[in-house]
Amino acid sequence: MMNLSLPASFRLGGNAIHRVIGLCLVLILAGCSSSSSSSDNPAEDMPVNPGTQMPDDGGAGDPPTAEPGGSTSGGTPTAPLEEPSTDVPVNVPLAPLPNPPLTPAPGADSEPVRASGPVSTVREFFLVRNPDRNLDDTFGTLTDADFDAGPLPAVIQTPDSVNPLTNAAPVFENLNDVEVFAGQELTVVFKPIDPDGAGIPGLFPNAIPAGARYVDNFNGTRSLIWRPLQPQVGIREFTITATDPVAPFYRTQRTIRIKVKMPSDPSTIVNLPPVVNLIRDHTVRVNDPVVAYIKADDQNGTVPSLEILNPPPGATITPHYSDPKITILSFVPRTTGDIEMRLLARDADDDTLTGSRTVKFEVLSEQAFQRPGARLRELAAARDVLIGYASLLGFYERPDGALYADIAAEEFNLVTTENSLKWDLVNPLPGQYRWAQADNLVAHAKARRQAVHGHTLLWHRQLPGWIQRTPLADREIHMREFIDRVLQRYGNDIPIWDVVNEALEEDGTFRQSTWFEAMGASFIDIAFRQARLSAPNATLLYNDYDVSFDGPKADGLIALMQSLKDAGTPVDGVGFQMHLDADFDRYDEVAGNFQTIADMDLDIYITEFDVSIRAGQTEEQQADVYEQVLSLCLDQPRCKAFQTWGFTDMYSWRRQFNPLIMDNRYQVKPAYTALQQRLSEN
Ligand code: G3I
Repeated sequence: MMNLSLPASFRLGGNAIHRVIGLCLVLILAGCSSSSSSSDNPAEDMPVNPGTQMPDDGGAGDPPTAEPGGSTSGGTPTAPLEEPSTDVPVNVPLAPLPNPPLTPAPGADSEPVRASGPVSTVREFFLVRNPDRNLDDTFGTLTDADFDAGPLPAVIQTPDSVNPLTNAAPVFENLNDVEVFAGQELTVVFKPIDPDGAGIPGLFPNAIPAGARYVDNFNGTRSLIWRPLQPQVGIREFTITATDPVAPFYRTQRTIRIKVKMPSDPSTIVNLPPVVNLIRDHTVRVNDPVVAYIKADDQNGTVPSLEILNPPPGATITPHYSDPKITILSFVPRTTGDIEMRLLARDADDDTLTGSRTVKFEVLSEQAFQRPGARLRELAAARDVLIGYASLLGFYERPDGALYADIAAEEFNLVTTENSLKWDLVNPLPGQYRWAQADNLVAHAKARRQAVHGHTLLWHRQLPGWIQRTPLADREIHMREFIDRVLQRYGNDIPIWDVVNEALEEDGTFRQSTWFEAMGASFIDIAFRQARLSAPNATLLYNDYDVSFDGPKADGLIALMQSLKDAGTPVDGVGFQMHLDADFDRYDEVAGNFQTIADMDLDIYITEFDVSIRAGQTEEQQADVYEQVLSLCLDQPRCKAFQTWGFTDMYSWRRQFNPLIMDNRYQVKPAYTALQQRLSEN
């Protein structure tokens, strides 16, 4: 069993905020691997819908070999890590939140407004939308003066166990700020060197610019390759970190500035053809309202025109309330059969430059979606267990939104906010909030008698740029203010919360996140204490992946939960994500880890269950994994919920592995039947 110590205290810049969480565990600094991969290592999804608040299509590829989520602050000095301590736990109560707050609290200007017109499939309550806001992220905008001041100094993170006199930090060879004209291709080569010659340093980037490539040259160097266009004119930062070959926590972080300039003759910038985005083939139900959000996009930043060839009979066309590139097609299919439309986008500067897409809507009868037997939520209620799914962001703005909502409400008594409560969506800029998507999901859940599971207050991903750029010394308060504001709004409507998500690396050590680098592991305790203060009656969970079966990460979880319990941290349970593959068979290990957590007087939630079908695997194998894990939950008194990460493969984050219980056409799969049968047994 790996032991962990949570660093006793961290100096945070000038405003030393010492938090003594003496948790009697000793961290063996195995350091972060320079890359991590696992059967359920969450993927960086391919953003499908640039520029709008629309649901993405999810469905990214299998996780790339993810590298530790560098969340550097770019040029902000990182306090040196202090030696772990085994001080006696002293639970320091949270200081009151500052007044005035660090960032403005949500105001009337953030309140959602009613959505008007035939723009959604919702009929049983008034849909709201976010108010028109200028969301240009001007926070921390860099100026020519910043660029001319020259490259930022390297930020070196030195664990106390390292003696810089005998082990020099990695350095980058010839790395400087760069300038490029829009339309030209930029290549920046990163060559990390270990001055001691002990080997090739590890490398990981932070926030690769959209459309850029970061490639391995297989010679110890990596390159950032990027052809910026008009929308990218300006100055941006790119941060890269080299890790010492001997002591991976010994790190050199460099932030370079990339200045994209307009050429004197803009006609030298290649004019790329427009594309039709946001829409693809769908199966819909006859007599349902259908809304199709169609985006005509252009990488040169212009607004193409859109022609809809052979629209369905009776269709209406509505402009999007804030995005001129989006057109909303609304209609009600009165007969079954296929509807094929051709969508044509024309470039604003050259109408011979076009992009098109043909879209097919398969209209099926109501009977086509009837499912045999009892509904999962009825069967689960009889077993006193919650059965849930993660809800697609903005499902009501998808062509099959009505069908999606009806089937979800018939089958599940619990719904998780897959993306609508993530920090970058909710609070994109200091003092600016976007509540509409979560408000709509809460309203929908109430209308359909479903409980809501809030995901997630704190994570290392999907953080807005502004929070990643805040000084280390301010991050505790920013974190607490955000938690308080979200829980003040939803604390009564959302009873279950993932408070902290994925704080551990694959090897069981703490992830070097925006939060860890500011507060050490004590951010976890602080987050839970703030959540308890803000929502005293909520169930507060720690959520992670790859922790249900034996291994260093499960060891890290068990040690972490024991240390939090010992410290009196107000945590109620553990969320086991369980993104598995169809050949999974480590059920005894899962039962053992569930019991270990239950023995700590903690509840168990299976929070993000899905089972990918990889090459050579079958739907029957998938169904068996669904049934076996549901059985483990039903057999474990502390297991309160079995939640899948979506329910139709159509919108899964791993769509190409068909991991869910219904297919793209909402037809049940053997996995659905396996759940139904297991829930029916005593
Ligand atoms: O909403 C924005 C849109 O405004 C923007 O134009 C577009 C392009 O940048 O992005 C949209 O956000 C996308 C978001 O999903 C909402 O659709 C993000 O790009 C995309 O990366 C994000 O993917 C989600 C991913 O977490 C990262 O947040 C997946 O849908 C979601 O299934 C996945 O879920 C995670 C859990 O939160 C934690 N456990 C692992 C699990 C799988 O990675």
